[in-house]
Amino acid sequence: MLFMGYLVSMTQISKSPYKGCRDLFPKEKREQDYLFSKMKEIASLYAYEPYDGPMLELVDLYKAKSGEELINDQIYSFTDRGNRFVAIRPEMTPTVARMIAQIHRATPKPMRWYSIPNLMRYERPQKGRLREHWQFNCDIFGGPEVLSEMEVLELVKDLLKHFGANEKHFSILINDRAIVNELFLNVLKVDEQTSYKLYKIIDKSKKLPYEKLEALMDDVLSAEQKSNLKKYLALDNFKDAFEFLNIESPLKQLVEKVEDTDLYKYLKYDPSIVRGLDYYTGIVFEVFDLHPDNRRAICGGGSYANLLEIFKESPLPGVGFGLGDVTLKDFLITHELMPDFNQPDDAILVTFQASEFESKALKISREFRESGFGVESNLKPINVSKAFQLAEKKNYSYLVLIEDEQFVFKDLVNKKEIRSNSINDEILDLLS
Ligand code: HAM
Repeated sequence: MLFMGYLVSMTQISKSPYKGCRDLFPKEKREQDYLFSKMKEIASLYAYEPYDGPMLELVDLYKAKSGEELINDQIYSFTDRGNRFVAIRPEMTPTVARMIAQIHRATPKPMRWYSIPNLMRYERPQKGRLREHWQFNCDIFGGPEVLSEMEVLELVKDLLKHFGANEKHFSILINDRAIVNELFLNVLKVDEQTSYKLYKIIDKSKKLPYEKLEALMDDVLSAEQKSNLKKYLALDNFKDAFEFLNIESPLKQLVEKVEDTDLYKYLKYDPSIVRGLDYYTGIVFEVFDLHPDNRRAICGGGSYANLLEIFKESPLPGVGFGLGDVTLKDFLITHELMPDFNQPDDAILVTFQASEFESKALKISREFRESGFGVESNLKPINVSKAFQLAEKKNYSYLVLIEDEQFVFKDLVNKKEIRSNSINDEILDLLS
């Protein structure tokens, strides 16, 4: 052990965080808290209850239904000291399903839950993609399919509106796995294995260069099948999509229900949305940023009917989404909807100019706090000009100076000052 310690002390230890992770300094933490506070407000408007789960889960939980990309390429896994093969959670849905499986029989339905966990995925860090992110998850279990889907879509739309966004800023791209399955089964007539491969191809179809996409299709499809798949991929509105396959999909019922609501103007049919995670069985959607500089998904979700099966429980339909803090912040910055968090919340800097006023400064600090105001108490005497410099550097709007028996309360923004012995109404007026 000693030897190891010696080696560490010889090497230069980096000050940077682990690749793809962020240090949240006070400004970044204020920004994140702002995002979280809006998420919590909307969740409670829709009566979703908060929950949380463990950071580590058995890898088997994800193997069952999360899909090979997550398991093979993205999961952080290791064998613990008790020989259990565990993973740092890469997503929350398997955890929430595991928790719901424990109590759903004894709980009235639907169950509406939300959480904001941090997740780890081994990805190549780039704009909108890190190795650690926080993800707002909202899920509803055991509700009627179409109305549950409608509620979840309205919730995410309202969240972004709550940040000041509108239909010029984002769209909700939506599809239905029932439609895609119908395409595979009755139009392309492919087996289960080919369907699985096609899901992955469709999922990547917008991101791949044309030749690469063609080559992937050629690998698994005949010329006629390929032509039909291309017809499907060219669909760009609900009417054509429903006519092309002519089935009674839940998506059709959903669209009929929302036609007269605010949600409708945000919805757009997109055949390439199938989602990378294997557990989805019904509608699948992604909220997409419409700004040309930030064309990416902010959020993804859908319906999953059979996730509880992995715990040998009877099926309980779920629908929900995950919305990441990294992509949300990029979205808000791109559309100039992110407030400035350079300044701390309005707080008062209390200073004293000679050591004999130390106890008076501490007393005034206490009194301001008792009246509900945040106070930074400067713990040693400083002269007046240093006090002003400090207030400016730290972006304070209010400063207290104590040079004699009274104190001076300064409103630095409105350039007003009040000399007093105690916190009076005039001061409270300036603070309100
Ligand atoms: P997902 O599409 O993998 O879905 O992730 C949802 C959102 O999380 C993405 O749209 C993105 O905003 C954010 N996100 C994902 N990976 C990263 C990353 N590496 N860096 C930054 N942000 C990221 C799920 O995870 C599903 N479990 C969501 C869900 C909940 N479905 C139903 N309920």
